[in-house]
Amino acid sequence: MSTSTATAHPNIALAKYWGKRDEELIIPATGSLSLTLDVFPTTTSVSLGHSDDDVVMLDGVALSGEESARVRTVLDRVRALSGRAEYAHVVSANTVPTAAGLASSAAAFAALATAAADAYGLEADDRMLSRIARRGSGSACRSVFPALARWNAGTDDLTSFAEPLDWSGPELAMIIGVVSTKRKAISSRAAMQRTVQSSPYFPAWVDSSARLLERMSDAVADGDVDTLGELTEQSALRMHASMFGAVPPIRYLSQASIALFDAVAELRADGLSAYATADAGPNVKILCRADDSAAIVEGLRSIGADAEYVVAHAGPGARIIEREGA
Ligand code: DP6
Repeated sequence: MSTSTATAHPNIALAKYWGKRDEELIIPATGSLSLTLDVFPTTTSVSLGHSDDDVVMLDGVALSGEESARVRTVLDRVRALSGRAEYAHVVSANTVPTAAGLASSAAAFAALATAAADAYGLEADDRMLSRIARRGSGSACRSVFPALARWNAGTDDLTSFAEPLDWSGPELAMIIGVVSTKRKAISSRAAMQRTVQSSPYFPAWVDSSARLLERMSDAVADGDVDTLGELTEQSALRMHASMFGAVPPIRYLSQASIALFDAVAELRADGLSAYATADAGPNVKILCRADDSAAIVEGLRSIGADAEYVVAHAGPGARIIEREGA
């Protein structure tokens, strides 16, 4: 038996991915850009040589149905590319509440792709790992890389992958405002499908996202935190607006989330530079300069914005941390 263990961290999209052009290959309708964090890693081990079927354990519980099917999709890709057929025993441990909009699936599938490629002896560069991780969960293709990464939408499996971006601006921080750790009512996968199929705002989202991504990439190249932040907030609000237009409507933001967006705007009016974003859940993430993070958390608390705050910074890409056996 041989085992490869990998770790990966969640990423938070600054320019959001919302909507697919191809459901099976997970080709997105828009490109996106994210920051991989240094908190809440997922560790995943892939063992070969002792199973007569794929077995997937997440935090001690065997997965079945849709979740295990997604893991199998990734394993099947790695098996096809490596030319090996053995079943795998997968053990994964999250340090972030699963499915609470804190990007646990991004870290999980980036770690899985990395561990599986290693276990099956597949010589995969980061681009290939990004493409494999994408097949489990779109956003996972960005967690293969450290810090800032851009997922080029592409048009097929070969052209849809993330790549790392250079950053020469001041150190960034992402303050995570945890307002709820409940499981989301509707998965991002189902919610984006419904948005694509029924929201009259979806075409406008796709159209405006392309321009926003180009402007955001320029802001990254310039090390311009404020333009990056303004575009981050715009992208999040436009994504949520596209969901409001779905039938039936989708709303992940709670009153506490809206209150946090307002509190962040209030801090900005007071001269602090902070920008809010939110994903498929009520938790709000606040992009800022690392040097300002303590003042921002203090400011939010003094306004009475009620949340548990975790200050994160740019984190590492997915990597192998242990190998056992031959
Ligand atoms: C709101 O990557 O979870 O976090 O590809 O269907 O697995 P699937 O979706 P997923 O969606 C992430 C959506 C988002 C925005 C983002 O991370 O870009």
